[in-house]
Amino acid sequence: MPVIAAPKPQDALRTQSHTLFGTAVHHGLSSYPKALPPWLLYDEKGSILFESITKLPEYYLTRLEREIFLQHGDEMIAMSAQAGRLSVIELGAGAATKTGVLLEAALRRQGRVAYYPIDISQSAVEDAKARLETEYEGVAVHPILADYTRNLASIECGFRAAGRKLVLYIGSSIGNFDPPDRSDILRGLRAHLAPGDMLLLGVDMVKDPQALLSAYDDAAGVTAAFNKNLLIRINRELGADFQTHRFVHRAVWNEPRSRMEMHLESLAAQRVTIPALDLRACFTRGETIHTENSYKFTDRGVRELLPAADFDLRGKWSDEAEWFAVYLAAAV
Ligand code: AVI
Repeated sequence: MPVIAAPKPQDALRTQSHTLFGTAVHHGLSSYPKALPPWLLYDEKGSILFESITKLPEYYLTRLEREIFLQHGDEMIAMSAQAGRLSVIELGAGAATKTGVLLEAALRRQGRVAYYPIDISQSAVEDAKARLETEYEGVAVHPILADYTRNLASIECGFRAAGRKLVLYIGSSIGNFDPPDRSDILRGLRAHLAPGDMLLLGVDMVKDPQALLSAYDDAAGVTAAFNKNLLIRINRELGADFQTHRFVHRAVWNEPRSRMEMHLESLAAQRVTIPALDLRACFTRGETIHTENSYKFTDRGVRELLPAADFDLRGKWSDEAEWFAVYLAAAV
């Protein structure tokens, strides 16, 4: 009788995400208007392209947030820790490139710090562990392979960390969720915290649309490649025949909804076959696949969002032009 080994947790996650990928593509391309959820953008290549985006001159978000952490990180940590020792948890940590600045601030205060990066990408959290533990003596990294948007319960191990918790939800990641979903995420998070645990939320603010358009349609074409990589991914993983040169990247400022949108616009009337899904998708010329929303916030909006999820605002820091802001809030 053949012996079937139990799947390793990471294999199970991979298989599950593979099925989720197909289901999401099927749903998105058979809907009207066509839309695909932004988490599909992050295969291995997409994650590398996103890291490149964060270094672009036009993509001010990462640079400004890092500067805010450099300038005010000690204060953020002091306000979060108060008397006790702090453990740091990060939702959707990815490569955790900016987190080092905050971990350094925590090390200055308490000498040692436990850090729990949560992400669906095993390679990202493993790389983060190797890098951070080499770079910062006193940091113990405990990666958690999970999707915080779907299953907060599976990240309980991070939430069981000793002492007070500081949850990082930075990089304006919350901006990629529509209002109901973003409220659910914050409420779900709050349910796993004790009163007094802290949340550090990084958000991108409403500003001159020209600055937004450049940030999401950079001169070097990296964001365009990031967006179009999704078609390459669908071709590779689902056997589709997208002709990528017949689609272009479009970045659009949707003023009434206060969000930047990314689309892939069809340059011609065309038909695409996706054998793994037994699906044929027809496009008219100019029709788009909506691939991402990046909501931009007002101070008032954030001040309403936090208490609605039972968080009490404790601090706010931003750059001089108020393009990007970091809010510190306590679980009530
Ligand atoms: C990950 N997320 C916060 C980025 C954003 O700005 O919405 C993703 C991104 N899309 C285009 N450029 C960057």
